[in-house]
Amino acid sequence: MPTYVVAGASRGLGLQFVVDLLARGDVVIALARTPENSKGLQEIKDHKNLFIFKADITNADSLKNAAEETSKVTDGSIDVLINNAALQGSAYLYNTLIDFPSPEALVSEFTNAFSTNVLGPILTTNAFLPLLRKGSLKKVITLSTGLAVPELVLSAGYSKSTSYCISKSALEMVNIKYTLALKDEGFSFLDISPGVVNTAEVPPTEEEMKEIKEMATGFKAIYPHWTGPITPAESVGLMLGIIDNLTVKDSGKFVSHKVSSLHLGRIQYFDLS
Ligand SMILES: NC(=O)c1ccc[n+]([C@@H]2O[C@H](COP(=O)([O-])OP(=O)(O)OC[C@H]3O[C@@H](n4cnc5c(N)ncnc54)[C@H](OP(=O)(O)O)[C@@H]3O)[C@@H](O)[C@H]2O)c1
Repeated sequence: MPTYVVAGASRGLGLQFVVDLLARGDVVIALARTPENSKGLQEIKDHKNLFIFKADITNADSLKNAAEETSKVTDGSIDVLINNAALQGSAYLYNTLIDFPSPEALVSEFTNAFSTNVLGPILTTNAFLPLLRKGSLKKVITLSTGLAVPELVLSAGYSKSTSYCISKSALEMVNIKYTLALKDEGFSFLDISPGVVNTAEVPPTEEEMKEIKEMATGFKAIYPHWTGPITPAESVGLMLGIIDNLTVKDSGKFVSHKVSSLHLGRIQYFDLS
């Protein structure tokens, strides 16, 4: 049975990946910065195919330790790495590039976003590369978003969530650089959008709801049939269908969770629902 490493497994889509992979009999290494605080991981921690290790994806030493611990329980190999962890919310989520209160606030916001959303997947991939090289599937999946797609953001008229959109957009080039660097070793790198998924643990405030509605209005203008967020279980089910069928010739692509065939081009199909 294949071995999966899921980074950012404490909650949301990461936790759902862990639950679904275990349910189908895979071996799962769940990485979380504070596993002891994850109610979801604590509930399943005794599963025989689950190994939980501490890892902060912004910290190379922490990732090195996690890879060493993983190596001990997997005989030095893993098959699939899922770079799921990300920083989505922030103090200036609803600012545009021109109305940050100060340059310092802008620099701090972007430094945090790039540290987690761009360097994080790079550091994680590099830490687990020796194990992936010894695995049989050699797949690296990174969670991106429709908000990283310039055409979509422009058409939807969405000027906010700047550090998130810009940092996630950079991941497409990260994916391509890895594809090229490892092109002779049988690796498949894929960026995937999970769709709009309700992973919130607490309901949004009135102010947040206003912002979410504004963003949704932009999306609805270009995708009139969109009916709103899907559940983590729906999203992960669709993504696993794509990940299972991924082959080397698809390496470097960025796809949505809705793609049934991976043979069409860059973003083959993007749908919010
Ligand atoms: N939900 C959506 O609608 C949506 C849409 C498009 C793309 N995505 C992408 O899908 C992925 C998962 O989204 P989600 O909604 O499940 O996110 P989420 O609920 O905000 O969870 C984020 C996860 O990342 C972890 N994380 C953050 N920084 C970390 C760090 N430095 N080291 C280790 N773990 C860290 C969090 O751990 P802690 O518990 O320790 O904070 C948590 O487990 C993200 O990459 C996101 O950008 C989501």
